Amino acid sequence: MKIEDCRADFPITRDLIYLDSAATSLTPTPVVEAMVEYDLRYRANVGRGVHRLAAVATHRYRDARDAIKSFVGGDGGTLAVTRNTTEAIGMVAAGLAWQKGDRVVTTLLEHHSNLLPWLRLRERGVAVDIVRPDAGGSLDLADLEAAIRDDTRLVAVTHASNVLGTVLPVHEIAGICRDRGARLLVDGAQSVPHIPVDVAGIGCDYFCFSGHKMLGPTGTGGIWMRRPDLEPLFVGGGSIESATADGYTLARGEERYEAGTPPIAGTIGLARAAAYLREIGMGAVRRHEERLAIRLIDGLAALDGVTVVGADTPGDRIGVVSFAVEGMHPHEVAQVLDEASAVLVRSGHHCCQPLMEHLGLPDGTVRASTYIYTTRDEIETMIATVEELSRRVI
Ligand SMILES: Cc1ncc(COP(=O)(O)O)c(C=O)c1O
Repeated sequence: MKIEDCRADFPITRDLIYLDSAATSLTPTPVVEAMVEYDLRYRANVGRGVHRLAAVATHRYRDARDAIKSFVGGDGGTLAVTRNTTEAIGMVAAGLAWQKGDRVVTTLLEHHSNLLPWLRLRERGVAVDIVRPDAGGSLDLADLEAAIRDDTRLVAVTHASNVLGTVLPVHEIAGICRDRGARLLVDGAQSVPHIPVDVAGIGCDYFCFSGHKMLGPTGTGGIWMRRPDLEPLFVGGGSIESATADGYTLARGEERYEAGTPPIAGTIGLARAAAYLREIGMGAVRRHEERLAIRLIDGLAALDGVTVVGADTPGDRIGVVSFAVEGMHPHEVAQVLDEASAVLVRSGHHCCQPLMEHLGLPDGTVRASTYIYTTRDEIETMIATVEELSRRVI
């Protein structure tokens, strides 16, 4: 399928210019149909009953989970379905056997979901070292390497920034972690939807992502583990091999992390979303968004009174562009864009308050984020509307 042909599958794009895909993406008709098909044609619980519907549902659910694992290049490891990235990261924070004196290294580029779980570990005697980017938002790998000590147990970094759009060199970071004997968690919430991802090739230990940002349903996501070495957060139905009145034996594979009934329709929908992205090709997705991001940055940076945040950050980027309009609160800009041109963007801290503080942006930024359904014309409308409102302010 060609990227230009996909728009008809996203009915919301007929009436609105949706530039908030980094918060949650739109979902195409085939994904909704796959979920409806489960509910109307073969709805049953999975991994439990032996009747015919249970057999079909179990088969389709497990195939869907395998397809999601393959999509992120994780065939050799373990992939458990989660509700979202936040839950997946929480599973690592709660599931490693922390000792007092262990250290975690993370960065100030992180979403709260990849920062607060580590800060919380301080209550258990774990120290947290936070590497700061420069004033433009660029991270120096030498600073990250210097922060890793002999007692650093885990390094937790984002693959792509949800504020600046920059892609971090996670392969190199994985090499450093291997050399230094630390485990690596990669927050892939903003990478899996937008660039080709190969978790085994990266060399990380844990990789976390959300389904709702990659055309899939809300309430779905995943954690990929090189080895299933985390203590599960919950135990109960579906997560054990056997149980007696005295105890239980946990299931060996991904099931040990999926206690209770999983999001069956959601997982089937997420696998359909992954297939949809595969049909387009993640290379094509990346190129399409790179072109749009470059135009966005050039167009906005040329306007008087408009500052693009992190515009000069070197390296790869996804279609996420943050900016500020002099004399206007980011929420005001977002409201005017909606009212004047039906352009929907995010405004505020983007769940990255410490980063905003570091960048000297106490009110946050306006953020435009693209996806496969975004067109060049939509980007031009957005730039023209920002130009108009910046003229009014100056
Ligand atoms: C980089 C990053 N990490 C984590 C998250 C949290 O994702 P979720 O709300 O799906 O758990 C987000 C969401 O915006 C994100 O952009």
